[in-house]
Amino acid sequence: MSYQIMTNAELAPWIMESIEAVDCKIHLWHKDGSTDAKLLKAADGFFVYGHPIIDGTIMDTMPNLRVISNQGVGIDHINLEDAKARGIPVGNTPGFVDGATADMTFALLLAAARHIVRGDHFARGPEFTHYDANIWHGQEVYGATLGIIGMGGVGQQVARRASGFDMRLLYHNRNEIPKIAAELGATYASLPNLLAQSDFVTLNLPMGPSTRHIIGRAELAQMKPTATLINAARGGVLDHDALVEALRDGTIWAAALDVTEPEPLPRNHPLLTLVNVVIAPHLGSATRKTRIGMVQRTIDNLIAGLTEQEMPSRVA
Ligand code: 8YV
Repeated sequence: MSYQIMTNAELAPWIMESIEAVDCKIHLWHKDGSTDAKLLKAADGFFVYGHPIIDGTIMDTMPNLRVISNQGVGIDHINLEDAKARGIPVGNTPGFVDGATADMTFALLLAAARHIVRGDHFARGPEFTHYDANIWHGQEVYGATLGIIGMGGVGQQVARRASGFDMRLLYHNRNEIPKIAAELGATYASLPNLLAQSDFVTLNLPMGPSTRHIIGRAELAQMKPTATLINAARGGVLDHDALVEALRDGTIWAAALDVTEPEPLPRNHPLLTLVNVVIAPHLGSATRKTRIGMVQRTIDNLIAGLTEQEMPSRVA
């Protein structure tokens, strides 16, 4: 008898094939409540793709649900308490996203510092009629101070990349990690000290009740007017209204965001009108190699949960 797996998004054919190879049938779950009741009743597992909110109310629509596995490391969209209360194990994909997300963090940092996106538009447009050494002056990256907020898997990979740019490294984390930090050449700083001293501040921490709006008006005010803020974590860690103000009035120099809240931003959101912000559509882990690893781990978690074995990556 094959396992019945729900998923909330159309999966690419190669993902479908990998899951079906382990005798699973895949069914599309619709968040508007229109999923066939028979399928909901039969569902053994849930392959969560993207960031749909999955709470106890949704879990209860699948009375035989035995495992949830999230494709991604961040699980802020899944209510772990509700899952625990129902005895449903939840898996995720730590480790797999670190390198690609750190690459993306650095791509955003460089893009904002050196006007890559606006410069590209300019270079293609009619206004680029002659070379002018007086414009497009950016911020120097090499030798600058980088403040990493969240020194987990991604943050540590960001630190490795930064040392190639001869950057001075500060970090802020819920716990100090002296041994790893020493290896990476990073110094622990309180949040205010990190904000005051850094030329670039990167957010690489998980989203949760204690980190929601960890960067707001007061924190932005502590940053240098020449500083750039990079967010490759979750939109919710940053107060977007405060960010708009800070970018408009020159409290900080620029921002580069891979994530926003909401995601996507409403098309008339003021952030989309500002020239000193670079925005990507949540591409942190979006490389083929990384996604293959994430999918495989998501499937391994599902199968382990269904066959009552220990999950390779379990968060609840
Ligand atoms: C996407 C991520 O959420 O791992 C994470 O936490 O932000 C991303 O990898 C994921 O790929 C969506 O399924």
